[in-house]
Amino acid sequence: MSFSIEAFIKILLLFLHLPSSICQLSLDALKPNHPIRDGDILVSSAQIFALGFFSPGNPQHRYVGVWYNKVPEQTVVWVANRDNPVNDSYGVLSINGDGGLVIHGKDPSSPLWSANVTLSSPYNFIAKLLDTGNLVLLENGSQRVVWEGFNYPSDTLLSFMKMGLNRRSGLEWHLTSWKSKDDPGTGSFTYGIDPMGFPQLFLCKGREALWRAGPWIGDRLSALPVMTATVYNASFVNNEDEISLVFAVAKESLITRVVIDESGIFQAFVWNDQWIKFYSHPTEWCDYYGQCGPNTNCDSEKDYKLACTCLPGFESKSPSLSVGESGCIRKAGASICQNGEGFVKVACVKIPDSSMAYVNMSMSLEECKQKCLMDCSCTAYTSADDRGGGIGCVTWHGDLMDMRTVSDVGQDLYVRVDVTSLGTFFMFIILH
Ligand SMILES: *[C@@H]1O[C@H](CO)[C@@H](O)[C@H](O)[C@H]1NC(C)=O
Ligand SMILES: *[C@@H]1O[C@H](CO)[C@@H](O)[C@H](O)[C@H]1NC(C)=O
Ligand SMILES: *[C@@H]1O[C@H](CO)[C@@H](O)[C@H](O)[C@H]1NC(C)=O
Ligand SMILES: *[C@@H]1O[C@H](CO)[C@@H](O)[C@H](O)[C@H]1NC(C)=O
Ligand SMILES: *[C@@H]1O[C@H](CO)[C@@H](O)[C@H](O)[C@H]1NC(C)=O
Repeated sequence: MSFSIEAFIKILLLFLHLPSSICQLSLDALKPNHPIRDGDILVSSAQIFALGFFSPGNPQHRYVGVWYNKVPEQTVVWVANRDNPVNDSYGVLSINGDGGLVIHGKDPSSPLWSANVTLSSPYNFIAKLLDTGNLVLLENGSQRVVWEGFNYPSDTLLSFMKMGLNRRSGLEWHLTSWKSKDDPGTGSFTYGIDPMGFPQLFLCKGREALWRAGPWIGDRLSALPVMTATVYNASFVNNEDEISLVFAVAKESLITRVVIDESGIFQAFVWNDQWIKFYSHPTEWCDYYGQCGPNTNCDSEKDYKLACTCLPGFESKSPSLSVGESGCIRKAGASICQNGEGFVKVACVKIPDSSMAYVNMSMSLEECKQKCLMDCSCTAYTSADDRGGGIGCVTWHGDLMDMRTVSDVGQDLYVRVDVTSLGTFFMFIILH
């Protein structure tokens, strides 16, 4: 017998498909008259994710969560009532006109959590656990989604989950750490997109920035190596509806876990009989936000005391302080306004914090240079999209913060310098 590969795959898919579509009705969806009680489980149609009640620590505290169905060590990726556990074993997750999806314990009259949507005819709705791990509340006939768990991420970023901002509803999509390994309650670390200026990905503790990835520069986030690797592909949208960054595992057969842990470390794992960590940040000295102060570059391959250097045209604030202690200021007496100034290229860096930067996607790099040169407040520029030699224009108009050398995934930045610094840099290039 001879089969073509295509025919073989078609037959395989047919068989793979049949059982799941039979099970679908009873297994992956919650119906108005069939709530999920503590002990019951929903399983997504291809058996990727499961949903049910769980306790990460104290068995008295019960949470509704989603975990990987095929990973034996229960690994929760999403939690509904993270700040309001059910403190008895009578927990119920049900569809309810007043709240949409509701969790209560022994006393049904005092719900502990709800999806906060009102359904005029709850009997037409079902809540379905999708193979992406998304729990969606939808109208049975029209399939209209009225609520989805992916709008309220926990500490884990799943494929196709958005980070960013829904400009229409004002809803922010970001990860928030757990309080502790035993408590999925809202912790103090968040991981998401700051829409200011040229939007960037930030890890924050409260309002304080701990770590920053550069902005999206066409095919990657400036300076974020892992997400340009073969494991993930990413896409970015910035329009009048939303700003969103979405990652997807490039090889569907891989089970990966991307989490912001309770101590504020972003970690990526792949499952191979156990969770194997393959990437994390912040870990190096230069990873932490603004480590060397303003107008500096940080290069972690050097000793940490030597890691900080002033950008061209800048000098240490005071001769008695090292660069890392004080940051840098414009060289004494240097004029950068219509006095023969120009730009020096700083190669392969994470570009400075762009929350206050200006962006124009339709300019060329040469136009960008001219625009920056003509504006004495402009301190640096580069292209907004690094593809095809660079298109678009980003300009900075103040101190340059949180730069570091990243040889493989960095970008070139053009820093405004006075005529003397320009000269010394030319000399430097000629002599070496
Ligand atoms: C459940 O227990 C937690 C922690 O002890 C407590 O803060 C919370 O108020 C309790 N919830 C209810 C509904 O009693
Ligand atoms: C529902 O609304 C209440 C009150 O505004 C809020 O505390 C709670 O976090 C909301 N729940 C969800 C799932 O958004
Ligand atoms: C959803 O619609 C299908 C087909 O119309 C029907 O068989 C099923 O009973 C409905 N489920 C609910 C919960 O209404
Ligand atoms: C990743 O690539 C695949 C295949 O090209 C594509 O179908 C998918 O939409 C991409 N995902 C994202 C988030 O860009
Ligand atoms: C972007 O630059 C182009 C070309 O210089 C200009 O025509 C356009 O007005 C600029 N757009 C914005 C939003 O500044």
